[in-house]
Amino acid sequence: MVNLDDVGRSGAWVPDPPAWWQREVIYQIYPRSFFDSSGDGIGDLPGIRERADYLAWLGVGAVWLAPIYPSPDADLGYDISDYVNVDPRFGTLDDFDAMLTTLHERGIRVILDLVPNHSSDQHPWFVESRSGPGSPKYDWYVWRSSRPDGSPPNNWESYFGGPAWDYVEPPGQWYLHSFDRGQPDLNWDNPEVREAMQDVMRFWLDRGVDGFRVDVLWLLSKDPELADNPVNPEWGEGGPPWLRLLRANSEDGPRAHEYARVLRGVIDEYPDRVMVGEVVLPPARAVAFHGERLDEAHMPHNFALTELRTWSAEEIRPVVEEYERQLPRGAWPNWLLGDHDFPRIASRLGPERTRVAHMLLLTLRGTPTWYYGDELGLPDAHFPPGTLAMIDPQASTSPERDRFIARTPMQWSAGPHAGFSEVEPWLPVASDDGSLTVERQREDPDSVLSFVRSLIHLRRRTPALASGTYRSLSGPPSVLSFERWHPDGTVRVHLNFGATSQDVEVDGAGRILLSTNEPPETRAGGHTMRLRPYQGVIVRTAAPGTPG
Ligand code: GLC
Repeated sequence: MVNLDDVGRSGAWVPDPPAWWQREVIYQIYPRSFFDSSGDGIGDLPGIRERADYLAWLGVGAVWLAPIYPSPDADLGYDISDYVNVDPRFGTLDDFDAMLTTLHERGIRVILDLVPNHSSDQHPWFVESRSGPGSPKYDWYVWRSSRPDGSPPNNWESYFGGPAWDYVEPPGQWYLHSFDRGQPDLNWDNPEVREAMQDVMRFWLDRGVDGFRVDVLWLLSKDPELADNPVNPEWGEGGPPWLRLLRANSEDGPRAHEYARVLRGVIDEYPDRVMVGEVVLPPARAVAFHGERLDEAHMPHNFALTELRTWSAEEIRPVVEEYERQLPRGAWPNWLLGDHDFPRIASRLGPERTRVAHMLLLTLRGTPTWYYGDELGLPDAHFPPGTLAMIDPQASTSPERDRFIARTPMQWSAGPHAGFSEVEPWLPVASDDGSLTVERQREDPDSVLSFVRSLIHLRRRTPALASGTYRSLSGPPSVLSFERWHPDGTVRVHLNFGATSQDVEVDGAGRILLSTNEPPETRAGGHTMRLRPYQGVIVRTAAPGTPG
C-alpha cells in the first residue's frame, strides 16, 4: 500500500520502485479468439500457452483473460455456471496451470476476469435459489413479487435492453438481471454471497494468478429499497432506449465502496497482486473506486479515451488534465483505447490516425491496457445479417451496438482462417488482407506491429515513460505536447492529431527516441521540428525538465 506521507500532489509522484502493474503494459486476450490449438474453431488455454513467445516478444508484462469458466454463453462467458473451473472448450484446470507456468516463466503476469455481480441462471446457486423462500440459497439472488398491477417490481432496465426482471413460476416472483435474463444478479447485501466470492478469489490466487479485473464493479450495490430509476430529463422521443432512464438507483449504491473493499481485502492477503475494476461512471465517481484510503481497486478502468468524439488535441488535453486532477492523492492512473465491448480503435479512427493514438496510450502517465489485435491495426468485422450461429445479446435488442465486430480471431498468418484455427472459427476473421497478420508485420519494420512493439519496449526501458510525472506543454493548434519527468531523465511527447503539418519547438540538443513514421525534419538550427499530419514523436530532452 502507498504511504501517503511520501506522496505529493498526484501528478508529481513517481512510485519508487513502481509495482509491476504500474510499470507494465496489460494486454487483454479474448481467449475464444486468440489461438485455437484443439481444432474446434474456438481459442483455448493451450493456444495462449503456445503463443507465449509472441507475447514476450511484443513486450507485454501481463495478460488479462476475459472469462474462461464454464458458461452456457448467454453472454459469452460473463454468465458463469462454475466459478472454480475452466470451460471444457478452453481446456482443463491442468491446462490453466500449464499456461500460467509458461507465462510466468516468460515474466508475464496473468489477470483473470472476476464476475461477482451475477452468475449464470444455470449455476447451482441459482437453480437452488429459484426453488423458493424455503431454499438456503433463496436470498443469494434478488427476488421480488409483482406490483399490484402484475408488472415487474420496478422500472429498471437491463443494459442489453428490456426489463431487468424475469418472472419465474415457482416461486411466482421476479428475479433481477442487470444484463441478460441468463445472468441473474447476486444479492451482495447477503454476507454469504460476499464470502462465497472471496473464496472464489482465493481459489485462483492460491493457484498463482496475479490479480483480477472485476466486471461491473460499480453495480454490486443497489438502492436497498429498489426504488424506480428516474427518467433522464435530457432524453427525447427517438433517443437511444438505453439512455431513457438514469440509473440512479440500480448502480453505485450506498455500499458500493464497502463491497469494493471486500474484494480488495482478499487481494491484499497475497503479496504483489492487483485489482482492476470495471467502472463506467463519470470520472469523479469512477476515480472514487480507488478508495479513500486507496483500499479499493488499484486501478478502476479509465474509459475517458473511449469517449472522445473529435480526437483533436484540443479535446484530449483537458480530458487528460481533468483526470490527473481528479485522481486521489497517491492513486495510480490507467488508460485504455477500448476493450471487448467497444468497436476497434483502427475502425473508430481510420488507419492514418491509429499510430498517433497508440503513441498517446503508451506515453500518458499510467498503466496502458491493450486490446489484442490492435497491434496489427485490425478493423471491425462486418457480418452479413443471418450469417452467425450466435449473436451478441446486446445486438439482439440494439444491432448497432453489436460487440462481436471487435471479437474476431487474432490474425496470425495468411493461411486459412488467418492461421487462428484449422477449421471454420466461431466468428469469421475481420479481414482477408494478408498484411493484417503477425507473420507479415513481424518481418516489416514499417508495420503497425513493429511500431507498437518498439513503443512498448521503449516504454519499458525508459523510466520517464513508465512512471514519470506528467505536465502539459503548450504547442501549436492540433498538437498535444507534454513532458514526462523522471529523476533518471525526461522525455517530451509531441502528437499531431491534425491533418496538416505543424512546427513544434524542441530542445536543440534533444534526441528523437521514436516517431510514428519517418522522423520529422528539424529546422531553425534544431529548435523546430516539422510534424507531418498525424505524426507523433518522443524526444529525450537534454534539460532536466520539471517534475509534474
Ligand atoms: C462487462 C463486460 C461485458 C459484459 C457485462 C456483463 O461490462 O465487459 O462484456 O457483457 O459486463 O457481465
